[in-house]
Amino acid sequence: MCGITAYYGDRETCEILLDSMKRLEYRGYDSAGIAVLSKPKISVRKDTGKLDEIEGKLNHGNSKSRAGIGHTRWATHGNVSEKNAHPHTSCDGRFALVHNGIIENWEKLKEGLGEHEFQSETDSEVAAHYIEERAKNKGTEKAIRDFMREAAGSYAIALLDSEEDRLFAVKSGSPMAIGMGEKEIFLASDVYAFSPYTDKVTFMKDGEYAVVEDCDIVVKNTRGEEVGKRVETIRWEQDDSGKGAFDHYMQKEITEIPRSLEKLQNSLETDQRDTLRRFTEKLKDCGKVIFTAAGTSYHASLLGVYFLQKAGVEAQALIASEFENYERVDENTLLVPISQSGETKDVLEAMDYSKQEGAEIASITNVPHSTVERKSDLNLRIRAGQEVCVAATKTFTNQLYVLMKLAESINGTKVENSLMEKIKEAIERNEGQIKKLAEEMKDEKDVYIIGKGETYPVAREIALKLKEISYIHAEGMMGGELKHGTLALVEDGTPVISLIPGKGSDIISNVKEAESRGAKIIEVSPDYGDFYVPENSNGDFAFFSSVLGFLLTYWTARKKGLPVDKPRNLAKSVTVQ
Ligand code: G6P
Repeated sequence: MCGITAYYGDRETCEILLDSMKRLEYRGYDSAGIAVLSKPKISVRKDTGKLDEIEGKLNHGNSKSRAGIGHTRWATHGNVSEKNAHPHTSCDGRFALVHNGIIENWEKLKEGLGEHEFQSETDSEVAAHYIEERAKNKGTEKAIRDFMREAAGSYAIALLDSEEDRLFAVKSGSPMAIGMGEKEIFLASDVYAFSPYTDKVTFMKDGEYAVVEDCDIVVKNTRGEEVGKRVETIRWEQDDSGKGAFDHYMQKEITEIPRSLEKLQNSLETDQRDTLRRFTEKLKDCGKVIFTAAGTSYHASLLGVYFLQKAGVEAQALIASEFENYERVDENTLLVPISQSGETKDVLEAMDYSKQEGAEIASITNVPHSTVERKSDLNLRIRAGQEVCVAATKTFTNQLYVLMKLAESINGTKVENSLMEKIKEAIERNEGQIKKLAEEMKDEKDVYIIGKGETYPVAREIALKLKEISYIHAEGMMGGELKHGTLALVEDGTPVISLIPGKGSDIISNVKEAESRGAKIIEVSPDYGDFYVPENSNGDFAFFSSVLGFLLTYWTARKKGLPVDKPRNLAKSVTVQ
């Protein structure tokens, strides 16, 4: 699972590739590599580590090369090592390639190749040897077409051919965007990778390959026939203005939550007003609504179910990776995928399956022009701007907001207008208390978070954050479930973070059950505990408790000296199954 990019043109190839790779690092940062066309062979540089640590090593300097490919890796097949880093080359050094996806039948393809010396444990390397083998007699294009017929799984590949001075792109299942500049061509897993250089873009479809020669590009199908492509002019919406005065992106992005919500609110009242109306109509008119998502977006979708059920719409949510195993969809279903990146593979697969069964798709995404957006019948953008930290924070609260707005449009409830102001106040007034608690939390091994109704998904979300960013084992659950097993793990002093919307809440009896077994109760509530939580109505508490949970996670990770923005083993977008 990875980010791939390629360039053909007269600029300094390595500089362009490195810049694009930095924009693609959200797809993985285990290792990275660059290959450039140079005579007589292709030159490859790669290493393990994050780009800012290894970019000097990857840069080939002032090379005169007009074409190159780059890769950022999240390891799937083969551990994190230099030899498993991309690009991979053919035995004769004629070809080098970078790959995103999984070639499922790589072992079978490898067996059919005869004598080839493999350098890595990856599924990707087989493609370089396969093409080398076939190209000997048939030429590169035919070799690529054979590969497309035989390879199973999903792939987006950028391939350099040093003999013909050509660059190729191949796509099936994984995304590949083409950027067209003045006498230069860009290829990448997403359009933002080349956003500073061109706004003219086209997207490859499954079963297409592209040939780049002398800065011209031709896209073809599996029969080798040229395919006409529609070139779009993209309006860039995502910008990374850097960390500014903040130490980490996570801190910056939590602080941006009120502003992000305001931007979304404005957008829903102006440019997205009609989309919001159409989305609402679809929710009301369909037989049933099924949300699908992964990670944080799944937790938002659970809140979507809660809000919609309250508004009288039958809804359910299912983790995207289990979609086909647990769900039945038909032409009366409205599938609502929620995805920050719009590139999560499992979500895309759930969409393909639902489409085949006749369902309509209305999605909620953040990154504009994503694959989820392009595959949907209708799409609402949450307008949170670029989120750099792996942990989703401002995008989660914007997802919640859009879901609340949809419910509001259905049943006429009013979303609190002062919500943004109150969140801002909660962030400012709790800083001292959060830091104090983080000091205690940093030594904890296990933490439990309990919620009920609107805060059950938040409890799960805070647990996810504590695991991924603070490396603390955490479980978020419904308060009522504590006594069905987990209570056995509660000892004297075990922290149980309790999300209590106010006096008289049902969850209080669950809090008491934990307390009487010795748990250290940390109350997040307007009426109990040491945090400042504004008075709330209509779902606001989900926002306040999320924000406090994010801050606690951030300060705990920081006090532990962890790599807050890029935690180990993770990626911001998971582009494999
Ligand atoms: C990864 C990220 C999570 C994210 C999830 C879903 O696991 O680390 O932060 O919530 O993918 O991503 P999506 O882009 O579909 O919302």
